[in-house]
Amino acid sequence: KFKIVTIGGGSSYTPELVEGIIKRYDKIPVTELWLVDVEAGREKLETVGALAKRMVKKAGVPIEIHLSYDRREALKDADFVTIQLRVGQLAARALDERIPLKHGVIGQETNGAGGLFKALRTIPVILDICKEVEELCPDAWIINFTNPAGMVTEAALRYSNIKRFIGLCNIPIGMEMGIAKLLNVDYSRVRIDFAGLNHMVFGLEVYLDGVSVKEKVLEMIMDPANASFVKNIDAEEWAPEFLKGINVIPCSYHHYYYKTSEMLERALKDFESNETRAEVVQKIEESLFEKYRDETLDIKPPELEKRGGAYYSDAACRLISSIYNDTRDIQPLNTVNKGAISGLPYDGAVEVSCVITKDGPVPLTIGELPVPVRGLIQTIKSFEQTAIEAAVEGSREKAILALTINPLVANDKLAVAIVDEMLEAHKEYLPRF
Ligand code: G6P
Ligand code: MN
Repeated sequence: KFKIVTIGGGSSYTPELVEGIIKRYDKIPVTELWLVDVEAGREKLETVGALAKRMVKKAGVPIEIHLSYDRREALKDADFVTIQLRVGQLAARALDERIPLKHGVIGQETNGAGGLFKALRTIPVILDICKEVEELCPDAWIINFTNPAGMVTEAALRYSNIKRFIGLCNIPIGMEMGIAKLLNVDYSRVRIDFAGLNHMVFGLEVYLDGVSVKEKVLEMIMDPANASFVKNIDAEEWAPEFLKGINVIPCSYHHYYYKTSEMLERALKDFESNETRAEVVQKIEESLFEKYRDETLDIKPPELEKRGGAYYSDAACRLISSIYNDTRDIQPLNTVNKGAISGLPYDGAVEVSCVITKDGPVPLTIGELPVPVRGLIQTIKSFEQTAIEAAVEGSREKAILALTINPLVANDKLAVAIVDEMLEAHKEYLPRF
């Protein structure tokens, strides 16, 4: 038996995961895939589940697909649990994006006020799942994609009894793939040493066949056409002087921190025209689900790659395979720091290149972060830790403190106003407050 359980199975991303499992069936001989969702997502789960069944049938692999609305029933004796849920669905994301913009600050689902509120809604649900895993499948590995993935990972590691919890994001893998493409070489020849936090990660070094090509890559990303590696963030041009000075590869989310005014201006336009990312994604989802309902479709439709999370299944299935097969290859993940990056909390989560073993990820020793990025990473870690405490304790005061620490909302009274408006808007999903 090899049982994978996916919580949030009705997600439009699920066909990616199914494709990833099918592709690697020789390495991960999955016998059961359980897709679990909440009753409110019944229509989506049934549609995605039917597509998953057609996909495994077409591929000719003997994987049983089970659909369930009962998390406990599904979790029983799982080997791997993947989590990709979205509390409040895209409607809640739209509020995370739109309310901050009303106050003149960036609205984004994983950064600033949006990221804070996504954490407040999500962390208690993840901690409930951890309790169920402890009881029903204590040896399972949890692989979480749910955002904000870094904070969610840290919350699970600090506030649950689960140790086998790994946070996964497609940003680092997307950077490696994107840079391989820029260099016009096969992806397997490129390796980046990553360090930082989720959506706050830097490539400290870039190697092609083991030789540093960092300078060359820095030059290449000076062209704005090459400056973003995800679909959900349009790049602005980096000042060449800045890139030379910082001397590490920023991730796409760094645009919010180093190009705040341009990103805000752009977001305000989207706000005016009702085209914030949540609103755009709602439309992409509608058309994806229309495709999924087509009973002749039995592969992952290419349109799914319009989503920012494209290729995350590659990251997820590669990780499952490396744990299962004890391959000891290197992958960037969110895991407990344990001193790998000096200056960041020992027990906190970091996003870092790790060696993957059957006992889980072992971070590479990074040592001290370069001076130009150290301060921002530490600030964001302070924000994250305070936000996690706010989520666990249901503390309005800590939520306000977290938001004031965050560089995207650097004014205490503005933080009060935004937090209060968002607490009210999301109250249905914030039972601890
Ligand atoms: C990136 C991030 C994910 C995020 C996604 C949003 O890939 O790594 O964490 O969920 O973008 O994509 P979307 O299509 O939902 O805007
Ligand atoms: Mn991510």
